[in-house]
Amino acid sequence: MDIILKGGWVVTAERVEKADIAIAGEKIAAIGPGLTAPGATACDCTGKYILPGIIDAHVHYQMSNDELITADDWYTGTRAAACGGVTTVIDYAETGEPAETLSGSLAKRIAQAREQAVVDFALHQVIKPGQEEDEAELKSVIEQGVSSFKVFTTYQQRLTKAAIGRLLRQARRLGALVTAHCEEHEILTTRRSHLEIVGRTDPSYHAVSRPVEAETEAIKGVIALAREANAPIYIVHVSSGAGAQAIAAARAGGQLVYGETCPHYLLLTEAKYATADARLFLMCPPLRTAADNELLWQHLAAGDLQVVATDHCSYSREQKAAGMAFYNTPAGVPGTETLLPLLYSYGVRNGWLTLPQMVQVLAENPARLFGLYPRKGCLAPGSDADVVVFNPRRELTLSSSHTYSAAGYTPFEGFSLSGCPESTYLRGQLIFDQGHLLGEKGQGKFIKSRILQKK
Ligand code: URP
Ligand code: ZN
Ligand code: ZN
Repeated sequence: MDIILKGGWVVTAERVEKADIAIAGEKIAAIGPGLTAPGATACDCTGKYILPGIIDAHVHYQMSNDELITADDWYTGTRAAACGGVTTVIDYAETGEPAETLSGSLAKRIAQAREQAVVDFALHQVIKPGQEEDEAELKSVIEQGVSSFKVFTTYQQRLTKAAIGRLLRQARRLGALVTAHCEEHEILTTRRSHLEIVGRTDPSYHAVSRPVEAETEAIKGVIALAREANAPIYIVHVSSGAGAQAIAAARAGGQLVYGETCPHYLLLTEAKYATADARLFLMCPPLRTAADNELLWQHLAAGDLQVVATDHCSYSREQKAAGMAFYNTPAGVPGTETLLPLLYSYGVRNGWLTLPQMVQVLAENPARLFGLYPRKGCLAPGSDADVVVFNPRRELTLSSSHTYSAAGYTPFEGFSLSGCPESTYLRGQLIFDQGHLLGEKGQGKFIKSRILQKK
């Protein structure tokens, strides 16, 4: 035995219990009361919560779009993750040049991340028009360790409904999970041209330009396609109460529909677009109302949404400032490092979620959905020793000056935290402790996702 975490409150997806955790090498060796092992390093965790390493199932590090590249690369993004108790991130592989193959883009992305990642990582594969037809390439991606595909209903890389249907049928045959960015393209283009005609294009019009109906229409459309294909579907970054309701209704009808929301949709509102810093809060879909915040918490608590992830896509103040209109301001916000403390402080402490529910939405559910369970996402003998020691008494006010992300700001500036991660272990190695990053570039491993059970 190498390490024993003693006397903490161990939180799993089922319960909270006082127990010790013994770590041998990269794995959890035992969990139970009164564990001893001569020679092991004992760490007193009295009064602390012991959580499984958090999984941020939706991040974009080192993402390039035309000339623009996100502020966080794989190193700074995963450094921020380690400091926030996140031990696995799931990012995206995407083809660049038209001639590039899916498997080629995936191999390149894995190599890029391996050099720099401080925490473990898995990948989703973005599917662009035409790529849904290539069964051999889709199979090859799965063999390389990716079990989820990502489609867009808007942006340049959007797929038609027919193409999404084809991909869903391929995914069903292959046992993969299709994930979808849902905003109805036609509604967005109509809104944009109306706003352009009346000269209302500055970033303060961002939420008006991407209304809730665009999200709900797209969610309903994609759910209908999944039903026809008899395939499961996962909706990313649900921003509205109506969007979550559409998912809840499909689930109530027995369909395998999963939903993800993000801390910014739970905690921030479109009032941010009326401020001078509107650009810093510009992401797609946009922030909504306080009523949407509340409905999202309700649907999360009810289990209609299964995952909270950050959609971490960071741009610096300077990069954001280059955008003059809502449609050319770089879209996205940083979030990985504040995911766990915000969910604890505003989800658990405000009574929306129990501690086991928090572990479900931040660890176990993403691990199960994306083929990483039980290696990741749980505290159990034989699982990777990815562990967070969380201090529920540590108070902190979030401030841009504290962030590890290269964005240089946090959209949650001024938010009070009632609890913070104190130490993070990645496969038995201490990578963050008492405010200090100990993890190193290249320490993170690519974790192959296993496919969902074939029907
Ligand atoms: O604005 C966002 N969300 N940027 C990241 C890309 C995406 O759509 O998820
Ligand atoms: Zn998206
Ligand atoms: Zn995203």
